[in-house]
Amino acid sequence: MRVLICHDAAAAVARAAQILQDTVAARPEAVLGLATGGTMEPLYALLRARIADGALDLRQVTTFNLDEYVGLAADHPQSYAATMRRLLFDTAGIGPDRGHLPDGTASDPVTEARAYEAAITAAGGIDLQVLGIGRNGHIGFNEPTSSLGSRTRVKTLTEDTRRANARFFGAQETAPEFAITMGIGTVLDARACLLLATGPEKARPVAAAVEGPLSAACPASALQLHPDATLVLDPAAAADLRLRDYYQLVHPDGGKARL
Ligand code: GLP
Repeated sequence: MRVLICHDAAAAVARAAQILQDTVAARPEAVLGLATGGTMEPLYALLRARIADGALDLRQVTTFNLDEYVGLAADHPQSYAATMRRLLFDTAGIGPDRGHLPDGTASDPVTEARAYEAAITAAGGIDLQVLGIGRNGHIGFNEPTSSLGSRTRVKTLTEDTRRANARFFGAQETAPEFAITMGIGTVLDARACLLLATGPEKARPVAAAVEGPLSAACPASALQLHPDATLVLDPAAAADLRLRDYYQLVHPDGGKARL
C-alpha cells in the first residue's frame, strides 16, 4: 500500500486529482470506478475546474460508480446518479451511455446487480477505482463482515451508515435501508485503487485498513491484498497510523512523484 500523507485536506484532494488525471492522460478511454460521499465533493469540484481550464478531458472515459440506493430513481436528487450528474457528469460531458450506476429502481435488484458486474467485465475492467471510506471501514456500501470475495449485490446498510448519510436527506425523508454495491472482490479486480480520506472521523478506519488485520470486520483492509493501492490522506485522517513517520519518510509531503 502506498500511504501518501499530504499537508492538508486541499493538498490531499489535489494529489488524488493528479493521480486520476495521470490515469486519463495515459489512457484517454480509461475505465474509471467512481465514488460518492462528502469527501469526494472537493475532488469533483477540482476536476470540474480542470475541465473548465482545459487541463482535463473526460469525454472518452467510461465510468462505473460503486453503488446506488435501492428505491431511489436516477432523477431523485439524493440518488447517486443525480449526485454524479451534478458533481461531474454534466460538466465532463459524460452521458448515461458512459456514466454507469446501478439502477436503484430495477424491478429485480438481484438481477440488476449481476448485470452491473457483467457490464464492468464487458467494458474490460476498471483501470482506476476511486474510493472513500466509511466511519466503520466500509468501502462502497460493503459494510463490516462483507465477504472479501463479494461481487456486486444488494446490501443492507448499518444504522451507523444510515445516520452518517442522513445529512444528505431532508428532515422528512429517511436514508434508504438497502443499496446495490460493487463487492469487495469487484473493487480488488480494478487495476489500481485510490482511496481518499480526510478529517478526524476517518483516523480510526484508516488505521484499521492500513495497519489492522486483514479482516471482513474492516472492509477497506482488503486493499492490503491489492498490488497497486494508494491511500491519500490529510494529517487528521492519518493521525492514528503507528508508522506515520515511516510513510512520510517514503513519500515526503504526500510524494511528489508516483513511485
Ligand atoms: C457512503 C458511500 C461510500 C463513502 C462513504 C463515506 O457510504 N457509499 O462510498 O466512502 O459514504 O462518505 P463521506 O465521504 O461522506 O464520509
